[in-house]
Amino acid sequence: MTNNRRRKILVTSALPYANGSIHIGHLVEYIQTDIFVRFLRHIGEDAIYMCADDTHGTPIFLKARSLNITPEELIARYNIEHQKDFGDFHILFDHYYTTHSPENEKHSKRIFEKLTKGGHIFTADVEQFYCEEDSMFLSDRFIKGTCPNGNCKAKDQYGDVCEVCGMHYDPTDLFDPRCATCGKTPVRRKSRHYFFRLIDFEDRLRTWFSGGSALQPETYNSIKEWLDKGLKDWDISRDAPYFGFRIPNEPDKFFYVWLDAPIGYVATTEHYCKVSGKDFDEYWFNPETEIYHFIGKDIVYFHTLFWPAMLMGSDYNVPRSVYVHGFLTVNGEKMSKTRGTFITARTYLDNLDPQYLRYYYSTKLSSNSDDIDMNLEDFRFRVNADLVNNIVNIGSRSVTMLVNNFHGKIGSMNSETASIFKEFTDKMDSIKSHYMEREFSKVTRTVTEISDRTNKYFSDNEPWKIISENPAQAHETCTFSLNVFKFICTILKPILPKMAAEVETMLDIPDQKWDEAKITLPNDHKIHEFKHLMSRVEKKSIDKMILSSREELQRKAEPKKSVAPVVAEKQQKTVSFEEFAKLDLCVGQILSVEEIPNSKTLYRLKVDIGKIITLIAGIKTSYPNLESLKGKKIVVVANLEPKVFKGIGVSEGMLLAAASPDGNAILLELANEAECGWKVL
Ligand code: MSP
Ligand code: ZN
Repeated sequence: MTNNRRRKILVTSALPYANGSIHIGHLVEYIQTDIFVRFLRHIGEDAIYMCADDTHGTPIFLKARSLNITPEELIARYNIEHQKDFGDFHILFDHYYTTHSPENEKHSKRIFEKLTKGGHIFTADVEQFYCEEDSMFLSDRFIKGTCPNGNCKAKDQYGDVCEVCGMHYDPTDLFDPRCATCGKTPVRRKSRHYFFRLIDFEDRLRTWFSGGSALQPETYNSIKEWLDKGLKDWDISRDAPYFGFRIPNEPDKFFYVWLDAPIGYVATTEHYCKVSGKDFDEYWFNPETEIYHFIGKDIVYFHTLFWPAMLMGSDYNVPRSVYVHGFLTVNGEKMSKTRGTFITARTYLDNLDPQYLRYYYSTKLSSNSDDIDMNLEDFRFRVNADLVNNIVNIGSRSVTMLVNNFHGKIGSMNSETASIFKEFTDKMDSIKSHYMEREFSKVTRTVTEISDRTNKYFSDNEPWKIISENPAQAHETCTFSLNVFKFICTILKPILPKMAAEVETMLDIPDQKWDEAKITLPNDHKIHEFKHLMSRVEKKSIDKMILSSREELQRKAEPKKSVAPVVAEKQQKTVSFEEFAKLDLCVGQILSVEEIPNSKTLYRLKVDIGKIITLIAGIKTSYPNLESLKGKKIVVVANLEPKVFKGIGVSEGMLLAAASPDGNAILLELANEAECGWKVL
């Protein structure tokens, strides 16, 4: 049966924890998923990409406490940081949300109630360690002690597994247990917990995972093994103090973070549908919609057993498949802070072009879940050889020659080049399957072969030499190369969307869809001058990145400066009310936001303060998505001396923002009722 209905597809990446920065290990997954979704959209499918921050649980609760802020503040900071990092790596979510949302609370309770009604939830007493100093139960990672394995007895091990001998045990098995936070010896205490009876879903899980759900063989085997060993009940509650959703009718009990985290996929979709006017039920209740989760190999159990079982028990759609990738190693080893290979997204971006990483990961990614190694020498070599010297080179040679010798006009191909071109475009079907099957390394390999041949053809034909005696032939060679360049950029668009867009502008063609890759540029079509696309990766940039990753570790190791003294210092100098009243603070609404060419930090804003003024503000890094600024009501200093920004223009005032210690600006926003021009006192 063939029909033209577009497939409705919902794709997710795992929700990163809201208590740490995104690093290049995470990026394996978000880049992989982004390429997959961009490809689906490229070929015209109706695909959306949902993600959010995973905001609940003990680590977040404790981190906020140690920073003397509320968990809400902590997760708000990371939400901004994460979105900025992902955006700068050209990862294009249709929606990025948070699990700490009303939608998530609603669905978590709904699912919990359905499971309760279905008889799949029960309570039982659990004896756990309790720290009287911290007034909290100590879960696996918050207790340390001596490994109970008589042959090992390694000191300072966590409550779930010994990192020395690898033995798994219960926290209460540890010898000489200590609270990992304060070091005191905990006591044993009983508490009633809620459990989810996973075994009730054994048959349905077996049908699901063997029923053509296209799981990877290794994932299939793990699930089968777990099922055959027998499914254990799952403890889904945690006692206060905790940051999460309260269990209905229980004052001091919360849902365990892993219960509401995957429900975040559902909640994010609902919020997305609300703001975009789409039909939420289509995604989570219409079984024709295809749901795919991308995850790392450490969280397979949650996504292939607990999660589908929860969905089955509450009548939501169950994922079609769960795609598992391996872990990133750097130079053959686990990312390491001391070696400087624990590289955050931001440190990478401060030193290197995000497109390098997107491309490099593509050359490494396949459909299996083997670990991926980023050897930094290989990274530099691959990117320079394939991307800069091969692919980009085709464009720079042909565009430059066409512009310099043929007024930028496209000619035609001869029969030889037309047939080579056809040979290339005939590969589109197989490249398409490579994308579909997540065999991105095969995509890049095929493209490299095409580029090699094209560059060789160009060099062999020496158009720069024959230009005066045989301009027609030189024109044909350049036209062929440029057509291939356009073809390659369109094929690689899911991997290198920024370059593809830049090339479209340079060639003066509209946004190309997948099928348009094979269309050649028409005779006499005029292109623009060559614009620089990508530089070679320099060894010194990589060295610098490693060095700053090491320095970052030292900075983090230093005791944190508390905020308190800064506030006290500020309060020493007073101003009289008269002095303060000289400031003309007023309400303004952001009407438009413009990029400023070559400026990494500044935006030009038009703001309505009763009249329309122009502001030049350094908020670009904090608000990378300029659309998000439009319409905001903010506070403006209207009587500041105008400031001239050289070569950019004049700023007629200043906006007010809170400045975080690490240089983030958070705009002072006003409720919508405040009208433009009102005074702020
Ligand atoms: N919050 C959970 C996921 C909840 S999903 C409902 C979590 N967060 S995480 O921040 O630790 O990881 C997010 C994703 O990044 C996971 O899929 C994880 O496997 C992946 N990676 C984290 N470190 C990684 C590497 N070093 N290499 C590759 N992927 C890695 O787990
Ligand atoms: Zn303690």
